[in-house]
Amino acid sequence: MVNVLVIGSGGREHALSWKLSQSSKVDKVFTAPGNGGTENNISLNVDDLDGLAEFAQKNNCFTVVGPEVPLAAGIVDKFNQMNLKIFGPTKNAAQLESSKIWAKNFMKRNGIQTARFEIFDDPKKAKEYVKSLDYNVVVKADGLASGKGVIVCNTADEAIEAIDTILVKKTFGDAGNRIIVEERIDGIEASYIALCDGNTAIPMASSQDHKRIFDGDKGPNTGGMGAYSPTPIIDDILAKKIQDKIIDKTIQSMKSEGIIFKGFLYAGVMIRDNEPYVLEYNARMGDPECQPITMRMNFDLYDYFVASVDGTLSLMPQPLWKNQSSVCIVLASDGYPESFPKDEEITGFDLVPKNTMIFHAGTKKKDGKILSNGGRVLGVTALGDTLSSAISNAYAAAEKISWPHKYCRKDIGKKGLSYL
Ligand code: AMP
Ligand code: GLY
Repeated sequence: MVNVLVIGSGGREHALSWKLSQSSKVDKVFTAPGNGGTENNISLNVDDLDGLAEFAQKNNCFTVVGPEVPLAAGIVDKFNQMNLKIFGPTKNAAQLESSKIWAKNFMKRNGIQTARFEIFDDPKKAKEYVKSLDYNVVVKADGLASGKGVIVCNTADEAIEAIDTILVKKTFGDAGNRIIVEERIDGIEASYIALCDGNTAIPMASSQDHKRIFDGDKGPNTGGMGAYSPTPIIDDILAKKIQDKIIDKTIQSMKSEGIIFKGFLYAGVMIRDNEPYVLEYNARMGDPECQPITMRMNFDLYDYFVASVDGTLSLMPQPLWKNQSSVCIVLASDGYPESFPKDEEITGFDLVPKNTMIFHAGTKKKDGKILSNGGRVLGVTALGDTLSSAISNAYAAAEKISWPHKYCRKDIGKKGLSYL
């Protein structure tokens, strides 16, 4: 038996910890730093690489990295040097996410379909370029900005403002030293996530996130306000196209450039005229996509993580998925993604049916109570025989949970229904 250390504190990490704790090979699951829902929390931050390595070594842990920050900081390289088993990509491989410019150039030189783009560090030149275009653009900060460094523009004036926000006002700090100005692609967005060992990429169940804060995909982008799996938007033909033209091509191109990509490879794709375009790569699982995907797993996730680390995924059977739909509704603090109140008591957990999972994100335990402690607070995740029944089950459970500044979108999953 082995112990597992899950690094992170979001809904994704709660879902991973929950699933991994069901493995017959896993003894204890620790989470660092964890949240009000995870057990065996270790008070080490995700960027405390030395502390985390020391803990993993002392406690005979197989480590699973949830968020991008420690990946970009090289946690996998560090653990590898110390002969500690860790699931996730190395710093070099994680550049697919940690530098959007690196990723765009990688796609360009390897013929992976993505939006046309130019790179700038001079605001004046960027503005002249925008004015010369006859299509709308998206302006992106190069580096990590918690999912917020992307501004989708409807007019040239908005693009000029976005250039000022990132390059002049430095709203995202050094992450915005350089920007990408790329063509806005209008289509349907979906998340395609595969588990990779450097050679083989096994697709996870398909899913779709809801990134904007308000119903009808209005308002600013967030980390994600809800997700469901599977999504009818990705049918078998499209899935094969994404697997061949994007996922496998990415893994093989990385390999030919001397980089072995192990871990979750997440392609955020926009589908236009039945063709997938990569909007972004993430070098990790999506949050909240992880929550509904994990709920549908009929296999031992720990075995697949080990096979990813060992490079033996090609020997593993195709993973089995519950034939049901799953929906995760994010309950957030009103005001997110800007400022929001914290430390409000959350009640109603005991009213939720046992087969519905309440994955915690921004919560903490204090004096036996659960308090809100972040923007995205809980992910209420339910199964159903159809997408429509999974939506009803999730919303019925979400209604039982209360705190003063609870906010959620009311239309999670609706985009999927319109494709059935
Ligand atoms: P990213 O972090 O690059 O995925 O961008 C965040 C969100 O911005 C995406 O999930 C899309 O909704 C939107 N987005 C990014 N790039 C584009 C694009 N080229 N065209 C349209 N929307 C985009
Ligand atoms: N849900 C989008 C992300 O994890 O980046």
